[in-house]
Amino acid sequence: MKASVRPLLFHTIAEFRAWRAALAPAAPLAFVPTMGALHEGHVSLAHHARKLTGPAGSVAASIFVNPTQFGPAEDFSKYPRTLNADLDLLAPAGVDAVFAPSAEEMYPTISELSTQHSALSTSVDPGPIATILEGALRPGHFRGVCTVVLKLLNIVTPTHLVMGQKDYQQNAVLRQMIRELNIPTAHVMCPTIREPDGLAMSSRNRYLSPADRPRAVAIHRALTAAKTAFQSGEKNPHTLETLMRHTIESAGLSVQYALPAHADTLSPFPATINAPCVLLVAAQLGATRLIDNICLEFTL
Ligand code: PAF
Repeated sequence: MKASVRPLLFHTIAEFRAWRAALAPAAPLAFVPTMGALHEGHVSLAHHARKLTGPAGSVAASIFVNPTQFGPAEDFSKYPRTLNADLDLLAPAGVDAVFAPSAEEMYPTISELSTQHSALSTSVDPGPIATILEGALRPGHFRGVCTVVLKLLNIVTPTHLVMGQKDYQQNAVLRQMIRELNIPTAHVMCPTIREPDGLAMSSRNRYLSPADRPRAVAIHRALTAAKTAFQSGEKNPHTLETLMRHTIESAGLSVQYALPAHADTLSPFPATINAPCVLLVAAQLGATRLIDNICLEFTL
């Protein structure tokens, strides 16, 4: 078997741009943005990116723990930083280049420790879709995400942006930004990769204590129970919400939200589910916040 080669690693924008400029201009370049602490979910995105571009194209990933998307009380300083292990994971997936800038390289005008998107003069305001659900619980989070992703897209100039479904609202917000700001990149959302018991893979799962880890599966159990109820004809959003809340709370987690929402706008359904729908959950387990979702197939 051919040994896999570690991707080229660039820490500065100038170096990455020089690599990008040497690629064939018409060939596809798929881009997987990450904050590192990679797991099999990210590896599957890299494989997906490779499939999209084919042998003539290229795949790039970024590893950057973006301070401006963390709230002041969130886990920015303790977010795991595992660059060497990350590069080893990406090598067999056929990633050609990794952009891993410092905070000063990305935000020369703000202090590395600032998690305040408000410290930036210019930022992207994604509007109402970013003020509900995750946006309501993490004010300013999506402004930070959109700003850094726009910066990354301007640096990487990919043909495809490849992201995982686990952060469903992030995908919806970025899809809107790409459309409304006329960014010439196709947004591709790939399925969530799960542990054998159903828990969605996440860099934050490593924070779960051994006692809490088995309980975390209640979120996936709740989502699949609600999906089964929907497929059996239950179209009342409140009934599905109650079912999910009950399943998650019985396992000792505290629910932040658990509800059916419109698959594109993420608006709640007042009385009946009558359009494409996603079930969205956020719950707290010990010190760890977990999110997950599942799409419901809707037919008229
Ligand atoms: O999903 C993530 O890991 C981050 O929000 C992203 C898209 C890399 C932006 O920092």
